[in-house]
Amino acid sequence: MNFQKPRGTLDWYGEPLAKFNSVADSLRVMANLYDFEEIVTPTFENLELFTRSVGESSDIVSKELYNFKDKSDRDLALRPEGTAGAVRSFVENKMFANKTGPVKLFYLLNLFRYERPQGGRLREFHQFGVEYLNAANPFNDVEAISFAHDILEFFELNKDVVLKINNLGSVAQRQIWMEELKKYFEQYKSELTADSLKRLEKNPLRILDDKVDGKKDFVLKAPKLSAYLSEEDKEYFNLILACLDNLKIKYEVDDSLVRGLDYYTGVVFEFVSNNPNLEGKSTLIGGGRYSNLVKEIGGPDYEGIGFAIGIERLIMALEASNYDFNLNSDLVAFIGCASESLTLLGLSAAKLLRNSGLKTSIEYGEYKKDRNAKLAIRNKAMFFIWIDDEGLKSDSLTVENLRTHQKETIKFIDLAQYLNEKYDEYMFSDEMINGNNNE
Ligand code: HAM
Repeated sequence: MNFQKPRGTLDWYGEPLAKFNSVADSLRVMANLYDFEEIVTPTFENLELFTRSVGESSDIVSKELYNFKDKSDRDLALRPEGTAGAVRSFVENKMFANKTGPVKLFYLLNLFRYERPQGGRLREFHQFGVEYLNAANPFNDVEAISFAHDILEFFELNKDVVLKINNLGSVAQRQIWMEELKKYFEQYKSELTADSLKRLEKNPLRILDDKVDGKKDFVLKAPKLSAYLSEEDKEYFNLILACLDNLKIKYEVDDSLVRGLDYYTGVVFEFVSNNPNLEGKSTLIGGGRYSNLVKEIGGPDYEGIGFAIGIERLIMALEASNYDFNLNSDLVAFIGCASESLTLLGLSAAKLLRNSGLKTSIEYGEYKKDRNAKLAIRNKAMFFIWIDDEGLKSDSLTVENLRTHQKETIKFIDLAQYLNEKYDEYMFSDEMINGNNNE
């Protein structure tokens, strides 16, 4: 029987994994600069955590959740997103105790959604996300949005990406609007899709961003939340917009942006790519404020705000913009030995070089010099080191620079220093500095 990976999942190895790690490393550095601490929560949680937070009427819970019973009949689910687990952990571990300001957590996790798989939409995917918890100040919203913006700027994606932003208002105001929306859509019941009809009862605002109904004329003309916002809600949103103007972060206010997760209140936002290669999976970053989630999960009355970026989508966007992932991790030295008895010496040389920080590989079982040299070239080594009996007599070995084809005989004891100097010389050469190495 031939086994294949489940639909919508990926095996990570080789260049895609190197790209993933390069992106993940940069995101971790940025999270550290913004003073976030990493959190890793369990891959599965109690099902109820997601039904309560993300919401039963959301697609993520109603259609896409991987839920199951364990052998003790507990209802569990693979995490479809990172916010609920982070908030659960914040509450369970009382991270707020002895802390005056917000608790700032970031995560880089694999997540699971039973979606129709296609490039950029997977059943197991990864997100880098951040959460500000105990963060009621609108400047936290501004910082969160500008952090997301900084990420795209770092990856040079800003020019292709639009920030869409909306204000979902306070729970009370939104409730009034939802009632009005419900009444309004009741009149058009016969024109709604089955999905929208289900949403009509529990969460009619999701009809606004429904893929099919969202484009219908009567949906476009539905009552707008902006008409129901309180003065306080409006002031809060205007402050955020003014700050974004000040920070020269461009945005589009989009009053159909409701986001697919039920926990949002206040500001919500998405960074959407207009690169044609990403059509249909163009939302790179999604986020927003959640005023009641911490309380809903059993914690204090603290507000939170956060966002998450899909790593696979980010990589797709970067590939589409010919981003240089800087995967330059060349093999520095390739060691070949003329006989089995010399292999131990080869091993000592390899250890010496690795201990001094140089990436080194050694061949076993092939003792012909020209074959070893070819292997060194095939492995893209910078230096080919050859150990033979003649060298052994004088405690030395031959080093060939595979770029210049210069050969030198080096004393065993001087090998690490010699290669380090040559490697540094190359790394700081005009060729490297002027970027001619991006082949
Ligand atoms: P989300 O909008 O559901 O938000 O997901 C955020 C990002 O994850 C999307 O913009 C997309 O890049 C990526 N993504 C989502 N689904 C898939 C998929 N099936 N395959 C590949 N990538 C995907 C959240 O998850 C919220 N928890 C974000 C948040 C954090 N809000 C507040 N804090």
